[in-house]
Formats: sequence, C-alpha cells, structure tokens
Amino acid sequence: MHTRPIPSTGEPLPVIGLGTYRSFASYTPELGTVVNLMFEAGGTMIDSSPMYGAAETVTGDVLDEIRGRERAFLATKVWTSGKQKGINKMNESFRKMSAGDTMELMQVHNLIDTEAHLDTLKGWKADGKIKYIGITHYTHSAFLELGDWIRREPEIDFCQFPYSIERRAAEKDFLQLCADYGVATLINRPFEQDGLFSDILGKPLPDWAGDLGITSWSQYFLKYLLADEAVTCLIPATKNPEHMADNLKAGSGPMPDLAERKRMALYFDSL
Ligand SMILES: NC(=O)c1ccc[n+]([C@@H]2O[C@H](COP(=O)([O-])OP(=O)(O)OC[C@H]3O[C@@H](n4cnc5c(N)ncnc54)[C@H](OP(=O)(O)O)[C@@H]3O)[C@@H](O)[C@H]2O)c1
Repeated sequence: MHTRPIPSTGEPLPVIGLGTYRSFASYTPELGTVVNLMFEAGGTMIDSSPMYGAAETVTGDVLDEIRGRERAFLATKVWTSGKQKGINKMNESFRKMSAGDTMELMQVHNLIDTEAHLDTLKGWKADGKIKYIGITHYTHSAFLELGDWIRREPEIDFCQFPYSIERRAAEKDFLQLCADYGVATLINRPFEQDGLFSDILGKPLPDWAGDLGITSWSQYFLKYLLADEAVTCLIPATKNPEHMADNLKAGSGPMPDLAERKRMALYFDSL
C-alpha cells in the first residue's frame, strides 16, 4: 500500500485506514477479519471516539483477540468539557482500546474545549504518552475554526475533517492550508456514510477507470480523494470484510493526478 509522510515527523502512514463509527457498535468475529485484512494489506490506522457508543471497547476486544495492538496506529478522541474530565476520559479510552502505555494519536473531537485539552495533550506528547496531537470536525463549516487552530498551534500534527467526491469544500483552500502548515490530514465520511453508494446505484464506472487501477465504485470514491498529496490517510468505516478488501485496493496501484481528479468529478456529477 502507498504511504504518505506525517509532515511533523516524516513517519510514513499507509493511505487507507479504518473508521469505527457505527461499524464497531458491537463485537462480531468478522471485525477481526476486517482489521486483519487491513494489516495484511499494509494498513495501520484505526480511528475511534468515546462518542461512538461501544466502538472503543470493541476495538480493544478485536485487537486483543487478533493480538493486533503492535500493528495498529491507534487514534481516538477526547469528547468532553473540562481539563480534568478530559484527562479521566482519555485514560479510560487507553484502557478500553487496550492501547497500553502509548496511543499514536489523540484528537480533540469537534473542537470541544480545545484549549483545555491541547494543554494536556502537549504535556502527554512531551512525556511520550501520545505520539501525535489532532483536531477533528464533522462539518465543512468548521474549516475556518480548524484553520485558526492550525495557524496558532504548531503542536497540532493532524487534522481530521469531512471530504468526499460529492462534497468538495476542502479542495478550495483547506487542504492547501494543512500542507502549508505541515499538518497531516485524515479524511472522515469519504462515502458520505451510505450516501455515495445510493447515488451511483446501477450506474457504470467510466471505461477509463481501469487506467487508474479502479475496479469498483468504492475505489473510485477513495482514489479520487488520494489524488491530492495533501491528503494523508482515509478512514472509511466498514464491518464487512468484503468491503474492507475492496476499500484497501484503493491504496495501491496508480493514483489520479489533479487533472484526472477533475475528470472523475465531472463524470460523477453527470450521473
Ligand atoms: N467529527 C469527527 O471526528 C468524525 C465525524 C464523522 C466520522 N468520523 C470518522 O470517520 C469514519 C468514517 O466516516 P463514517 O463512518 O461516518 O462514514 P463513511 O466511511 O463515509 O461510510 C461508512 C458506510 O459505508 C459503507 N461501506 C464501507 N465500505 C463500503 C464498500 N466498499 N461498499 C459499500 N459500502 C461500503 C459502510 O457499510 P458496511 O459496514 O456495510 O460496509 C458504512 O455504512 C468514522 O467511522 C469515524 O471514525 C469522525
């Protein structure tokens, strides 16, 4: 699988990861297969949050079951107000996810009490308890506020935000801002949850998709996002091993350039 460097350290990160919202709501043995498929293809990133019901606990159970902790780049979030409450919640996330002593990435979820949590996270990064600090949001209208934090806080290593072939606001200037400030990008909702798949139901891929190594609509949607080098890693969610195998194929082979990205968007818009 292709990797892209995390700008603040140069550490290579595989471009396809895994989200856990809804898909990790309860434990099933298939989830172990999903995560193992990702590891076998070279992927590492698993993104969760205390907001996603049992997802952190299920992630920890799956990693224990398949003895996968060492192969994972574990990411979760702090989703509460107040510095001490944040510390308690984050320590709980470490336990639930079976993270051990170190979590790769801790993110401030939806910019809730960012100042208080960044203060904690900067200390934890200096102590080696986390490797990277991130901020996230789920709306396009938050780009301004995310950008303000990136400009003023050099310790932010990652920014997670929504971007898909249907909703392309990040292309306007936000991806460039992340690149300019050396911030890695994690793309959430790459399929607009199930939305993109309903949009293309019964519609054919264009003939030229094969030139980009694309054999399914999921790969089309994911490779579209990887056309821009400012995109570091995608975190589509799935509980289905077949879907995981399909999504992982988007991480290898030829990647579209920006001209091809434009052509992909035009075709999608024409459907
Ligand atoms: N504020 C934030 O920080 C924030 C907000 C939103 C999301 N996130 C993160 O981003 C992750 C991704 O976003 P999301 O889960 O909202 O939506 P998404 O990844 O855009 O879509 C997930 C949906 O796509 C389906 N799917 C996946 N692969 C497929 C394939 N190859 N073919 C057909 N269907 C497929 C899944 O169903 P199956 O399970 O049946 O495959 C699931 O219903 C989340 O899980 C979460 O980790 C973070």
